[in-house]
Amino acid sequence: MSETVHRWMEQYPELGSGPISTEPYISPEWYEREKEKIFHKVWLCVGRENELPKVGDYKVKRLAAADTSVIIVRAKDGKIRAFHNACAHRGNTVITETGEETYGGSKAAIMTCRFHGWVYDAEGQLKQVPSEQRFYDCFSKEKNGLTPVHLDTWQGFLFVNVAEQPETTLAEFLGEYANHFNGFPFDELDFGFTYYTYVDCNWKVAHDAFAEAYHVDTIHAGSFPNVFSTGLQNVKLMGPHRTCAVCLTLGAKPTPVSGIANGLAGASLVSQRGESMLPPAINPDKRDDFAFELSVLFPNTLLHISEGIWFTHQFWPIAHNKTLWEGRYYVKAPTTHSQRWAIEHAMTLQRNAWLEDTATMEDTQRAMQSRAKVEQHLQDDEILIRHGAVVVDQFVNA
Ligand code: FES
Ligand SMILES: [Fe+2]
Repeated sequence: MSETVHRWMEQYPELGSGPISTEPYISPEWYEREKEKIFHKVWLCVGRENELPKVGDYKVKRLAAADTSVIIVRAKDGKIRAFHNACAHRGNTVITETGEETYGGSKAAIMTCRFHGWVYDAEGQLKQVPSEQRFYDCFSKEKNGLTPVHLDTWQGFLFVNVAEQPETTLAEFLGEYANHFNGFPFDELDFGFTYYTYVDCNWKVAHDAFAEAYHVDTIHAGSFPNVFSTGLQNVKLMGPHRTCAVCLTLGAKPTPVSGIANGLAGASLVSQRGESMLPPAINPDKRDDFAFELSVLFPNTLLHISEGIWFTHQFWPIAHNKTLWEGRYYVKAPTTHSQRWAIEHAMTLQRNAWLEDTATMEDTQRAMQSRAKVEQHLQDDEILIRHGAVVVDQFVNA
């Protein structure tokens, strides 16, 4: 057994090397415990500050795993705050939701419950109650504002924590992970596209499918032929979070059209570029073959950065075997038609690759649910999956 083939196990022996149980992927009881011990307790990334540019702009995000929907709204003082989307009168949603994410705004920065017309401001205060005099002495507007949800930001990302009293601040929760990515110009790369779908699988099946490069030669033989190396580099575990570098195959030759598109807008991940915007902790050895940083911001966000590109995958549990998957991809806004075309090409390439990834998930879930196999065997370059399983276990059994 040489040092190189088991290098991550040697670096992180505390994770062990044994098989991983499939039970946490298929058990409804385990999922209930994950909801209580993880999604009701930790900071969850729910968007970007620049989604709410104006006073009164709001976004409602459904968080099924935290048993609520959260209104995120920019108030007159310019601050963004979060509240449960629940009316103090008879419990209707204050903002009528049209799906997993509902966007809207009001110049007056108020929100009106459509059931009986109670009006709240963006600080969460109850401002107006039709026929207020008919309520009784025990009722006061002051005590019946919206229920606040803890909100904080990092690098323009919005995080909420639905616990009444979070066990950590966002800065404590992110820890070293924040230092690793601090300084990347997320806001300058704000031209994005999004794909999302519901997948009939556990959220960890979806996470795992994106948390290794072992599958690239097989699953992505169509979209990224001979582009990426199947091993990982610079694996770093940081509390519940984890990161690594995905590298290019030496001498990689992208398809001709990908090569042209990448030369025009650098939007397709397929060739090596300079490193002018990457923070110092990323690719510390300045490897020539570095393609992108693949990180997991616990519990359900994968954040990737590269020169001129960043993208995320998020896995929102809906049930033990149903997940909302969201993929978002950002580059610099194009200034020419050829750059616009190159970004369209990147969109198509990512759509194809993500379809290839998501296509495995429901099959994995069905096969796991058969219990024909009750364990998974992970190789050394699947360490992010192993770390994920260990961290989830620690939270659930805490
Ligand atoms: S439930 Fe909101 S005003 Fe009645
Ligand atoms: Fe993939």
